[in-house]
Amino acid sequence: MKRLNQFTLDLTVAILDFLYRGRDYPRFWVLEEIARAPYFAFLSVLHFRESMGLRGPEHLYLMKQHFEQSVNETEHLEYMESRGGNSYWIDRFVAKHLVLIYYWVNVVYYWVAPRYAYHLSYEVEVHAASTYAKFLAYNGHDDKILEILNDELHHSKELHDAMEMI
Ligand SMILES: [Fe+2]
Ligand SMILES: [Fe+2]
Repeated sequence: MKRLNQFTLDLTVAILDFLYRGRDYPRFWVLEEIARAPYFAFLSVLHFRESMGLRGPEHLYLMKQHFEQSVNETEHLEYMESRGGNSYWIDRFVAKHLVLIYYWVNVVYYWVAPRYAYHLSYEVEVHAASTYAKFLAYNGHDDKILEILNDELHHSKELHDAMEMI
């Protein structure tokens, strides 16, 4: 399952890198738009499990964490918008359709295999951090991108911990 996660991520990244080569901020905007979806999906499933009387000991901790992560990803998204990442209709069209599919994939995945769903998002966060690190290496220092890079590393650690917990 982890290999399937890695394969899916590598394929998606290869397609996005091809489509968005030379257009860093639109690519970051699309990635941030997609990166938020799993956190909404995790929250949706946790709410549903709670309503079904399936609240485990780690439940509240995970809900708080995923809510904070989703807010933090929205802050990243707003920053990319301030840099013109969503200026074109086609980028918004691509991102909004991908996010619709990715949200539902994550709802089902998290419901049936939460550890593997966390693993997929963990890999996405690691990829996001390395994407921003490459950007800094090519374009020089940027305080905001460095802050976002550190947020992504923080998310990856939280997801890793969640994987061990659930
Ligand atoms: Fe982000
Ligand atoms: Fe993140």
